Amino acid sequence: MWPDLIRKAKEGGLDAVETYVFWNAHEPVRRQYDFSGNLDLIRFLKTIQDEGLYAILRIGPYACAEWNYGGFPMWLHNMPGVAFRTKNDVFMNEMKNFTSLIVDMVKAEKLFASQGGHIILAQIENEYGNVMKPYGEDGKSYINWCAQMADSLDIGVPWIMCQQAGAPKPMLETCNGWYCDQYKPKDPDTPKMWTENWTGWFKSWGGADPLRTAEDLAFSVARFFQKGGTLQNYYMYHGGTNFGRTSGGPYMTTSYDYNAPLDEYGNLNQPKWGHLKHLHDVLHSIEYTLTHGDVHTQKLDNSVTATVYQTNDKSSCFLSNSNTTTDVNVNFGGIDYFVPAWSISILPDCREEAYNTAKVYAQTSMMIKKSNKAEDEPDSLKWTWRPELIESASVQGKGDVSVNRIVDQKDMANDASDYLWYMTSVELARDDLTLNETVTLRVTDTGHVLHGFIHGKYIGSRWAKYGNNVTYVFEKNINLSPGRNLISLLSATVGFKNYEAKFDLVGAGITSPVELVLKKGDETIIKDLSSNKWTYKIGLDGISNKFFDPSKSSLKWISDQIPINKNFTWYKTTFKAPLGNKPVVVDLLGLGKGMAWVNGHSLGRYWPSYIANKQLCKTKACDYRGRYSDKKCLSKCGEPTQRWYHVPRSFFEDGDNTLVLFEEFGGNPSYVQFQTVEIGSICINAYEGKRVELSCHNRPISKIEFASFGHPQGVCGSFEKGECESDVDVVSILEKECVGKESCSFEISQDKFGKAYCEVRRLTVEAVCEDFIF
Ligand code: GAL
Repeated sequence: MWPDLIRKAKEGGLDAVETYVFWNAHEPVRRQYDFSGNLDLIRFLKTIQDEGLYAILRIGPYACAEWNYGGFPMWLHNMPGVAFRTKNDVFMNEMKNFTSLIVDMVKAEKLFASQGGHIILAQIENEYGNVMKPYGEDGKSYINWCAQMADSLDIGVPWIMCQQAGAPKPMLETCNGWYCDQYKPKDPDTPKMWTENWTGWFKSWGGADPLRTAEDLAFSVARFFQKGGTLQNYYMYHGGTNFGRTSGGPYMTTSYDYNAPLDEYGNLNQPKWGHLKHLHDVLHSIEYTLTHGDVHTQKLDNSVTATVYQTNDKSSCFLSNSNTTTDVNVNFGGIDYFVPAWSISILPDCREEAYNTAKVYAQTSMMIKKSNKAEDEPDSLKWTWRPELIESASVQGKGDVSVNRIVDQKDMANDASDYLWYMTSVELARDDLTLNETVTLRVTDTGHVLHGFIHGKYIGSRWAKYGNNVTYVFEKNINLSPGRNLISLLSATVGFKNYEAKFDLVGAGITSPVELVLKKGDETIIKDLSSNKWTYKIGLDGISNKFFDPSKSSLKWISDQIPINKNFTWYKTTFKAPLGNKPVVVDLLGLGKGMAWVNGHSLGRYWPSYIANKQLCKTKACDYRGRYSDKKCLSKCGEPTQRWYHVPRSFFEDGDNTLVLFEEFGGNPSYVQFQTVEIGSICINAYEGKRVELSCHNRPISKIEFASFGHPQGVCGSFEKGECESDVDVVSILEKECVGKESCSFEISQDKFGKAYCEVRRLTVEAVCEDFIF
């Protein structure tokens, strides 16, 4: 997907692509490196270069990024004497080793701008300033060391440190956030740079869909450049999918769509992509004045400020209205301008408004999902199944290692799997007090999911709500027998923590105490099992034995009596890849929680039974005005947090493809479907005076569903005519202009769409996109 995504980024008006480098992906085992396939960093950088774009290389190597453990490899945590992100020889030695390795690789290919390449900036550490305090003096020494170490690598282009006010020289500090216009680097000689303009937000299991409007995002960018910004990067421009076990935590979803300008599947997220493209075009057109001009500001009214950039032969102006509710008509240089609330107008020649952040001319694209139309593909998939063999752990208590204490999952499993069995047994004499009584098994857990068994019998499960208060107590009433009682607890993590000071030390899995609690009248007897002999087994049988690998033909799969709502069940089916080249998703509605693979490639964790909290979505319509935050403009509450899972076309083969699911909670696979994601309909809702384009992107516009020129109301999907309406048939004008074509472009004017007697006129159109019918 890289060349296509990078091309779309260039077409969207970007000059550079910024990327992190994930240490745990490239050095999964100490001193064993992986730069193959999708991990080929040099190939990625060269693809950017081939497209004629610059690159910004954020080595970190701490990243955050909602990525598992923030990008740190777990072996590093398990090195004796290590302390992360502080003055610690073990850590600094490893960090230097990895950073130098990346720098050397890049240098060998001559990719730094100083060598004639396209990398203009590199980053060391990541937002350390936000969390530095708890690390005390050692934190300060560490960040100074980072600066010296990076500088010693002699890359010939500047190093940056984001969110690091007063970064040690020669590092340059930069800003991250939804807005950085008010940001001022401590050193007046440091250019004002913004490494992460959050285009939306990420999603956690139990969370709702984020939306940052195109108007507000454009406002933040325009305001940054109005106020002297020099470099601005979108985080994310394309967020994509966290395949495998790469999503961080706790509880980051597999989708990392981020509501970014290019969506999870690589489609243009319209109108965001187009509205920003228009902004980039205007900003590029005034680049010289912005970088060479003298700057003056002038308050025009309580909420409107004009900023003039002036060189000897040209001036360019910004008019900003930061009031969150009041639209303003303002006179500037003898001309009247309408500046809506929370918006900025850009006048490249200080006279004509070329762009206003709140006036969107880009089309809105409404994406839909269509069922798989591959030839001979039946409506529903035919399944086979196998149970996960849990008995050796749950009945026999067999594992890999035994120790007389409870061990954190990070330390025991070394991130080899989400799953870890904790097993112990309790020997009871015939006269033990706890016999014939109901005893409570009480387990303290730091996350994220726990399933309990007594002597092979399943006693229940529990998981942390929303991944926040990850410490919770699992309590179940059990009955014990004389002799040996085996307690087997299967712990599952859902992404290791990736942010906060000392996040690397946050516990995972079961912690002490694990207790048997007997209440007899007023008396409570507690038996602490924490220092018992505990046996551990890392991973699941099906994963170790690669049930997901279709080349393992010797495995027996059962084709009748497909179990429904049965936990620890493997399901398998074959299917034909959907025809064409549109992005593909698999709809996993009906399933509980688990993991999915297509032809052995992991699609990531799934959890469609996790419903987005109803409280999160306010009923109030989403208003672009006012500061954005991750609590604003949420949608899809009460629906599965993530129902659709991306299957890149590169995972498919000709003929039969295999889908394998590991269902941990219990679910029903009979609704599972492969679908394509495509544009269903497109809309324009724009003011008079501009040229606009409607495009179905390589498919024909088949119908004009709605069109009105005057004062129409509503939003894409539910437009209505207003009181003021043009005197001609706007629908038939557009039918002639657009139907049957892949795109059409026209000027919104009274000449074209007739006379409408209202003060401000707008055109709204909704058109339908269809496939070519042969
Ligand atoms: C920043 C961090 C990014 C990402 C972002 C939120 O603090 O640098 O890596 O985690 O927050 O999406």
